[in-house]
Amino acid sequence: MTAAMDILITKAETSKLKDLNLEDLPFGKFFTDHMLEADYENGEWKNAEIKPYQPLLLNPSLAALHYGQAIFEGIKAYKDVDGNAFIFRPEDNFKRFNISAQRMDMPEVPEELFMEGMKQLIALDKNWIPSKQDYSLYIRPFMFSSDEIIGVKPSDTYKFLIILSPTGPYYSTPMRIYVEEKYVRAVPGGIGYVKAAGNYGSSMKPTTEARKKGYDQVLWMDALEHKYVQECGTMNVFFIIGNTAITPDLIDGTILNGVTRQSVITLLKEMGLNVEERALSIEEIIAAYKSGELREIFGTGTAATISMIKELRYKDFEMKFDTNGWKTAPEIKKWITDIREGRREDKYNWMQKV
Ligand code: COI
Repeated sequence: MTAAMDILITKAETSKLKDLNLEDLPFGKFFTDHMLEADYENGEWKNAEIKPYQPLLLNPSLAALHYGQAIFEGIKAYKDVDGNAFIFRPEDNFKRFNISAQRMDMPEVPEELFMEGMKQLIALDKNWIPSKQDYSLYIRPFMFSSDEIIGVKPSDTYKFLIILSPTGPYYSTPMRIYVEEKYVRAVPGGIGYVKAAGNYGSSMKPTTEARKKGYDQVLWMDALEHKYVQECGTMNVFFIIGNTAITPDLIDGTILNGVTRQSVITLLKEMGLNVEERALSIEEIIAAYKSGELREIFGTGTAATISMIKELRYKDFEMKFDTNGWKTAPEIKKWITDIREGRREDKYNWMQKV
């Protein structure tokens, strides 16, 4: 795989766009006219193609369906007032994708295929980028093992795809969160830092149980002591205590190195807050709540951007907040959204033009 011109392009004969209301979109339900697909065989990437969005024909013995060598990324693209398309920090997602690939013993995807393929695909489906505030084109690159064999071993063949979904906000209202004590998301030495499909698969049952109790998501605790907070649902999490924003550190490899997390850390520092990446225990959170020092809690992620947490329940103890009076989370959310949608200076060069 060398350069952009190696990607074969077959255009869809008609567009589905006319049937869609770009002003009213649930998250991740609709897909654009085209997709990118490439194959890994005999140690190299080949057959890179952009073609009409279509089903895949898969053999029931497909390795990924049995043993879960499957990874993905989430990235967002926006349109400025002049109709130019921009992608938010795609290089960071590209790097993280290959970190995931390494941990899952999968081949790395070359930068040209990932970045050029994504840009060419977006250029083709540019009209699908919604202009409505808080809406975007969600980009989903993913890779899975494609050997047709049920022996447990790394696959010799893989598929890499990119699909695009015009999308509205992921969570639109402040969330009620249940501190999870029984199930865990990640262990040191495991795959918590990896965007592997299995991490999300194993979160379904705990989340369903929390929903039955009336909560939106769980707050994951560390696996060894059930004492330190980790992530919140599919998001990284921040606690503002006094003038300090605290978020769990990445040292044990149990936390996803979120691109939105990194961006929020940068902006919080610019706002004048102290930022600490460190272990944070639930006891410290409860003590800060009782003393009135715990000001705000929010989750960060590509899909969610910033999601405020209005309630946190640990055992029988409820921490409730009136998010209407919050300053930091709404300001950070507005700041990032304004950079992404071209209303505020992009001084960190986060936006990459298509
Ligand atoms: C994202 O924030 O992009 C995610 O991957 C979370 C979820 C949609 C799986």
